[in-house]
Amino acid sequence: MTELNVSSRNLFRTRTACLVLGVREGQFRTDWLRELDNRLRKRLQRSRRDGEFTGGSGQTLMLHCGSELAADRVLLVGLGKPAPNDSEALRRAAGSAVRVARGKKLDRVALYLPSFDLAAHQDAAWQAAIEGALLAGYSFDRYLGDADKRPTRIAELTLVTDDRRQAVRAEALAVRARAVCSGVELARDLVNLPGNGKAPEDLAEQARQLARDCGLTCTILEKQQLEEEGFGALLGVAQGSRREPRLIVLEYRGGEQSRKPVALVGKGVVFDAGGISLKPAEKMDEMKMDMAGAAAVLGTLKAAAGLKLPINLVGIIPAVENLPSGSAYRPGDILTSLSGKTIEVLNTDAEGRLILADALSYAARFEPEAVIDLATLTGACIIALGHHASAVLGNNQGLVRQLLAAGERSGEKLWQLPLWDDYTAQLKSKVADLKNIGGRPAGTITAAAFLRAFAEKQHWAHLDIAGTAWKDAEEDYRSFGGTGVGVRLLVDFLSHR
Ligand code: BES
Ligand code: MN
Ligand code: ZN
Repeated sequence: MTELNVSSRNLFRTRTACLVLGVREGQFRTDWLRELDNRLRKRLQRSRRDGEFTGGSGQTLMLHCGSELAADRVLLVGLGKPAPNDSEALRRAAGSAVRVARGKKLDRVALYLPSFDLAAHQDAAWQAAIEGALLAGYSFDRYLGDADKRPTRIAELTLVTDDRRQAVRAEALAVRARAVCSGVELARDLVNLPGNGKAPEDLAEQARQLARDCGLTCTILEKQQLEEEGFGALLGVAQGSRREPRLIVLEYRGGEQSRKPVALVGKGVVFDAGGISLKPAEKMDEMKMDMAGAAAVLGTLKAAAGLKLPINLVGIIPAVENLPSGSAYRPGDILTSLSGKTIEVLNTDAEGRLILADALSYAARFEPEAVIDLATLTGACIIALGHHASAVLGNNQGLVRQLLAAGERSGEKLWQLPLWDDYTAQLKSKVADLKNIGGRPAGTITAAAFLRAFAEKQHWAHLDIAGTAWKDAEEDYRSFGGTGVGVRLLVDFLSHR
């Protein structure tokens, strides 16, 4: 991972291959920018006049320096106009700058953290900028044998501040950002792993490793125990694959002994071919990301432990593979879930809600004060919200509101969909307590309505991350492939509890 330093050395005396400077749109009159422009013999003023660089958000301009500056280059990045809550804009700007540097094979970058216009948001602004820079340094390159083909990694990131007092703050924020980003990176790595590199048992091993590294308690339920306990819904999904299922349970205790935990439940389908209700071939490869909920839970636990958050957490991950085979479950099968409720399976591709049903029942044993599940659950969610927001639904509006607020602050946007009782009618079965599909209308909502039946009395919220867990192309701090969505959101949510 990137080495992170803080320097309170004067901006113009900072030695680096690439000095990144954020510039607000139309605000070229700050002292440091004027001095910079004087040193650069008004090259800045000229590029502004030519419309080449105006500080508009996402713009970048690289200028090579001679003896005017200790840095070899300055990379100006536009921050756009100031707005009340624009941490996300700063995250993206820092990310874009790091991307430009990497594109030029520069592996040492310094990032100047100016005093921002809205002093109240200074910490949030700086943390966002540091996160953006760190996250833009990520690539999934472990399968690229030829080292030359691997994209440049940022070896060193120096944060430059105005004075010593500021440097102390920057230090603290850097520690925080690093902990959060290492959780995001873990989640991205796990999502990006190909299906053949992550059997349910491999995820279990990752969890054991994480527990050793971070001082968590890890319990793994294997197939036989799941049978004995009666995880009928989870086992139904798992039976088509030769790779056996696991239920992964991780506990982090950072809060008072007597305090009830928050339970995080993550869908861990390591590959979703759809089962007997087979998916079309096109883009089926992307269904290796169907464990992004599980990855977010692991990443959040890692970050929470790194930050020593004063709370108790339990992470629960049902890990299975959904394949068609001679032993696969069939449309028409009736499964008896851990709750005792029976489920008529009308589509084997609606498997996520089946494994989550049992995981939610299991979560109740920890008497959590809140349960939040994350799942790449429905294609319908992509139709409803596209790739810009995750859906949130739940049975407790207070919990949903806290999550929405965390979404605003973290930039991992959420949009609430209604969960009126009207929708449950779509899940009525003639032969079992419920059926596992509700038809085409409101697919994301009926999936959540299904889960609600298993959350029962618990305070519960569901995040459908089908549209946000994966990206087709890299952009600013957001890399190609797994996004690690959920980690920053949940860390923010948990930090504010
Ligand atoms: N994992 C998929 C949902 C998904 C689709 C996630 C695209 C990310 C991108 C889920 O298991 C699934 O197949 N859902 C079905 C449900 C349907 C059969 C009711 C879907 O959305 O088509
Ligand atoms: Mn599916
Ligand atoms: Zn799935």
